[in-house]
Amino acid sequence: MSQIADEIKNQIKKRRTFAIISHPDAGKTTLTEKFLLYGGAINLAGSVKGKATARHAVSDWMEIEKERGISVTSSVLQFNYGGYCINILDTPGHQDFSEDTYRTLMAADSAVMVIDASKGVEAQTRKLFKVCTMRHIPIFTFINKMDREAMDTFELLDDIENELGIATCPVNWPIGSGKEFRGVYDRNTKMVELFSDTHKGTTQGEVMKIAIDDPKLKEWVTDTQLSQLKEEIELQDGAGAEFSQELVSKGELSPVFFGSALTNFGVETFLLHFLGMTTSPLPRTSDQGAVDPMEEKDFSAFVFKIQANMNKAHRDRIAFMRICSGEFEAGMDVYHIQGGKKVRLSQPQQMMASERKMIDKAYGGDIIGVFDPGIFSIGDTLTTSAKRFAYEGIPTFAPEHFARVRQVDTMKRKQFIKGINQIAQEGAIQIFQEFNTGMEEIIVGVVGVLQFDVLKYRLENEYNVDIRLDNLPYEYIRWIENTDIDLDKLTGTSDMKKVKDLKGRPLLLFVNDWSIRMTTERNEGLKLSEFGR
Ligand code: G4P
Repeated sequence: MSQIADEIKNQIKKRRTFAIISHPDAGKTTLTEKFLLYGGAINLAGSVKGKATARHAVSDWMEIEKERGISVTSSVLQFNYGGYCINILDTPGHQDFSEDTYRTLMAADSAVMVIDASKGVEAQTRKLFKVCTMRHIPIFTFINKMDREAMDTFELLDDIENELGIATCPVNWPIGSGKEFRGVYDRNTKMVELFSDTHKGTTQGEVMKIAIDDPKLKEWVTDTQLSQLKEEIELQDGAGAEFSQELVSKGELSPVFFGSALTNFGVETFLLHFLGMTTSPLPRTSDQGAVDPMEEKDFSAFVFKIQANMNKAHRDRIAFMRICSGEFEAGMDVYHIQGGKKVRLSQPQQMMASERKMIDKAYGGDIIGVFDPGIFSIGDTLTTSAKRFAYEGIPTFAPEHFARVRQVDTMKRKQFIKGINQIAQEGAIQIFQEFNTGMEEIIVGVVGVLQFDVLKYRLENEYNVDIRLDNLPYEYIRWIENTDIDLDKLTGTSDMKKVKDLKGRPLLLFVNDWSIRMTTERNEGLKLSEFGR
């Protein structure tokens, strides 16, 4: 094998690709915006934020997004800072989010979890966190909004540990909160970073640091606060988990930071530590073993998201792929493993803070979107390597909402089937059928209820088909992992439904958790899974 070029190696080593996860309103957008400020990608904080302006320019492709004022799709932001090239994968935290949000996590090497200090762990964070742990990627916690009344620090840490089942290691420790917030104490350097919000985060601002035993500290921190801090630190040092880079890398220990994104406090400290504790792109599993970007000289990537009709005038589809090794050049020919032929990757683009930009080159760790003439599926591998390996597929995530779909005008059967299949291929919805019915009776499952509206809207607008959606009471789906199962003999609860997916794999739909437990108890050896692999 010929040597991988130093230039490519250096480019990949500089890459840090991570996703930001949070419950809506915890401050993900504000934090992202401050990161970009440090990278110089934007001049003034606020340009990402404007929910009606810049942010929409990124994903302004569907009326629903505009109507609801939320971002349905996730985007990628790239910026340079401190010698690193950073890719941030944005994951919509809205409860209407789709499976895309989960899939985006498959393309990240680590995750940053933003938590509102007054609320602790919330529902959406819990869901996204599950996928992070499944992948064993490092998870960093930023506890935000310390300038507001916060929960007790120990309580917050306990909440993360109990709710999410991951050990925590606070890198710094807050002094007060809300009106009494004075800053954070760095447990390593034993310095206090003093809080000031004079700049309101529009500039990078100076941070004042002062040693914990410096008498001058009393000018900012009261005696009561100082003795409370010392007591808490002593307690934490005695009982808390010690920092271990190895456990952080395996996703078993989350370094925790406190700050206030809005006032730009603690953000740069977080960024610097984070960059030091994460790694450049690591090897990924393929059917021919792990592919290491430091050894594999050829280009390889996998598709994790397909977005249709980014541009209404052209009815185009964009396939988003995560580059895993090598160098990408615009217009290059690559081998599409699943399609079994060569394809040219044209119109490559990257999502920047407020625009889509055409690119010439990209490297392992980067995310690019390329024009898709309708041949790619989620999980597909593209490579220039003669070895023709395929990356491990992306699991299908369990939908939580189900509806029976019927076409209003039965004359348009062909369009209906074509439309619904294409939308399913893009991964926006999942299609299920009962065992004894044809395509006229379809059950659609979605991760976020908004996808039902997306389905209806797209079938009407793109395929000229009207549909009727009748909600079904199911909330849980489980793939049956046993290959030798006799479905007729399977005994479940009366409200359970047996269905199959597009690949013919058997599944069970349940109304509640209890039915799942009953069914598992009644059928010895039955193996049910939340992910379809
Ligand atoms: P999200 O992307 O996670 O949904 O959260 P986003 O950043 O949009 O923040 C949600 C709200 O919380 C915003 O206020 C934002 O200004 C505020 N916020 C974010 N970080 C902090 C912080 O550190 N301290 C305080 N006090 N507030 C913070 P909003 O009123 O909903 O929006 P806007 O009117 O300010 O734009």
